[in-house]
Amino acid sequence: MTAANSDRQPAIRATGLVKSYTTGGERTVVLSGVDFEAMAGEMTMVIGPSGSGKSTLLAAVSGLLRPESGEVNALGEDLWRMPPSRIDAFRLRHCGFVFQGFNLFPALNAVEQVALVVRYLGFSRTDARERARAALDEVGLSGKLALRPAEMSGGEKQRVAIARALVKEPSLVFADEPSSALDSENAARIIELLRVASRNRNAAVIVVTHDTKLQQSADRIVEMADGRVVQTKRFPA
Ligand SMILES: Nc1ncnc2c1ncn2[C@@H]1O[C@H](COP(=O)(O)OP(=O)(O)OP(=O)(O)O)[C@@H](O)[C@H]1O
Ligand SMILES: [Mg+2]
Repeated sequence: MTAANSDRQPAIRATGLVKSYTTGGERTVVLSGVDFEAMAGEMTMVIGPSGSGKSTLLAAVSGLLRPESGEVNALGEDLWRMPPSRIDAFRLRHCGFVFQGFNLFPALNAVEQVALVVRYLGFSRTDARERARAALDEVGLSGKLALRPAEMSGGEKQRVAIARALVKEPSLVFADEPSSALDSENAARIIELLRVASRNRNAAVIVVTHDTKLQQSADRIVEMADGRVVQTKRFPA
């Protein structure tokens, strides 16, 4: 193990997560006692068939969806024991999110999309725009600052979404199928940006993906099936 590896701390440690849905009187267990860990400075990929509980797991460890039982320790705090307002504040401060559908505001240009997040954190308008420009530069979009989503390609839109997730320097980054709407070249680029973010910012980056080609970029792969973790692999093995 290298010195860099031994410095790594689990940024998220979840134990015994259970979540179910009841529809038409029938209970379906979606997470049935899942344990999960993600380390700072690493990219953890969550894989598994459709319906196996990947998005639900991501939601439960990021403070978006309360599990019925189990615990999530995130950055040393017991996430689901916090009052809801503190969970929201924790997400705002520490978590960056990237989703398949980009989730950009149609009326805002690239700088405005990213600067908005910085404004929420309490920075001035000028500082927010400055940070937004720097974040967009980092994802290779310094030439596209004034474009709105309708004027951008899918890969560019997702890079704006990544800049928006990273601009607040989050310790935790959650990406649910961030590349599945993209061609393979853009998909690889998006995953590489997330991998670099884990390294350079010592963030725990957690990525759900179906794409087997992208899995070689992971430090750790967590495979789910039927609401359980069936295998965890570390790279290099
Ligand atoms: N709000 C909900 N109400 C009822 N069932 C739900 C709800 N959300 C998710 N489920 C069910 O939970 C199961 C797991 O869903 P989840 O979205 O976590 O799977 P997934 O592994 O992310 O799948 P995919 O690869 O298709 O995105 C599915 O069977 C789904 O139908
Ligand atoms: Mg999903």
